[in-house]
Amino acid sequence: MALVCHALFFLVLVPLLESKDTTTLLGEVGGAVTFQCSSDLSRPLKWFYIHRPVNESVHEFINGYHSTKPLDTEYANRTYVNHSQRTMKMWDLRPSDEGLYECHISTSKNKVKMQLQVTDTTTLLGEVGGAVTFQCSSDLSNTVKWFYIQRPVNESVPVFINGYHSTKPLDTEYASRTYVNHTQRTMKMWDLRPSDEGLYECHISTSKNKVKMQLQVTANYSIPKVTVTCFHGNCLVTCFSSPGYPREEVKWRLFPNQSLWRIVDSSDYRDPVSLLFSVTSSIVINCRPGRLLNLSCAVGGAVSQEHTICN
Ligand SMILES: *[C@@H]1O[C@H](CO)[C@@H](O)[C@H](O)[C@H]1NC(C)=O
Ligand SMILES: *[C@@H]1O[C@H](CO)[C@@H](O)[C@H](O)[C@H]1NC(C)=O
Ligand SMILES: *[C@@H]1O[C@H](CO)[C@@H](O)[C@H](O)[C@H]1NC(C)=O
Ligand SMILES: *[C@@H]1O[C@H](CO)[C@@H](O)[C@H](O)[C@H]1NC(C)=O
Ligand SMILES: *[C@@H]1O[C@H](CO)[C@@H](O)[C@H](O)[C@H]1NC(C)=O
Ligand SMILES: *[C@@H]1O[C@H](CO)[C@@H](O)[C@H](O)[C@H]1NC(C)=O
Ligand SMILES: *[C@@H]1O[C@H](CO)[C@@H](O)[C@H](O)[C@H]1NC(C)=O
Ligand SMILES: *[C@@H]1O[C@H](CO)[C@@H](O)[C@H](O)[C@H]1NC(C)=O
Repeated sequence: MALVCHALFFLVLVPLLESKDTTTLLGEVGGAVTFQCSSDLSRPLKWFYIHRPVNESVHEFINGYHSTKPLDTEYANRTYVNHSQRTMKMWDLRPSDEGLYECHISTSKNKVKMQLQVTDTTTLLGEVGGAVTFQCSSDLSNTVKWFYIQRPVNESVPVFINGYHSTKPLDTEYASRTYVNHTQRTMKMWDLRPSDEGLYECHISTSKNKVKMQLQVTANYSIPKVTVTCFHGNCLVTCFSSPGYPREEVKWRLFPNQSLWRIVDSSDYRDPVSLLFSVTSSIVINCRPGRLLNLSCAVGGAVSQEHTICN
């Protein structure tokens, strides 16, 4: 009698448990997540696998483990299964990976449901002194109560940049360099500096997800200046360019190419106020009698004039 009651209890309870907990996993485009199928690592395992319900009847198999046979999957080079941990790691995440996943495991009648959210980090490009526009949402139909942009400089203390609140003005140190248009959900930022480079997050009242944006700032180097000093068949050639960002190496180009040269000095200087770099490189070339040599140098996208030496 006691046994029957026990069985009935389970029959009623199991579907209730099953419909409940869906864990949410957060990943970023290009990043990785680990699916945990069970926390019970003690009982021996015959098999477990993770699949995605495409619709009521069709599932897409992702990866898994079977104690007696290898499993074949299209996801082999983006997933890794550790059966002793009951985990599957998935990397190189794409927006299309977002959705529901289910794990079935031989040690349990319940499947574990996991919802994967993949957030995208857009990259914004700006030039020093120029401007960029951060777009917090493309959905302009719902009315927004608030939205704001901050920089997660460290985990505990984000830096507030600017934003909008429907009932109160927002105070910011960035007022002179940013402008918020709440109907467009945008923030324009100008007079860009190298120190503005980094990650920005937008939080908006119409979405639970924050939008991540990576700002990259560049400054074009000037056309490099080349000076040549020759003495007894050796030439000292110096290349100089400034101001630019980020730091770039000086690249030498010799025509025809040859190996009878070496770098004797290579340095950079960073202006403490503008944070822009000046770069210099000097090389010594051993001239071969009667062999003219052309050379130029390049810093970033800027290329010097060609100089003819060893004449
Ligand atoms: C489920 O999806 C498959 C493949 O996309 C499709 O062929 C099938 O008709 C769908 N079944 C139902 C019931 O929607
Ligand atoms: C993964 O496999 C696909 C085809 O099976 C291939 O096109 C792709 O280059 C592979 N990716 C890596 C990172 O090996
Ligand atoms: C599974 O994970 C454990 C703990 O991280 C590790 O010791 C073990 O080598 C892993 N097994 C496989 C097959 O990767
Ligand atoms: C975060 O930054 C604040 C202010 O710069 C600093 O006081 C705090 O110690 C930092 N916290 C961590 C965990 O680095
Ligand atoms: C926001 O942008 C729209 C379209 O560019 C413009 O018509 C509107 O005047 C702007 N609003 C504010 C507050 O600047
Ligand atoms: C910097 O260089 C890029 C690529 O050559 C060019 O498109 C851009 O206009 C330049 N910026 C300035 C301020 O000269
Ligand atoms: C070097 O430059 C001169 C003048 O521009 C040109 O006539 C010559 O062909 C160049 N030589 C090589 C090897 O590039
Ligand atoms: C020129 O020669 C150097 C050393 O001999 C070599 O490392 C370099 O790749 C060559 N460059 C080109 C453009 O062929």
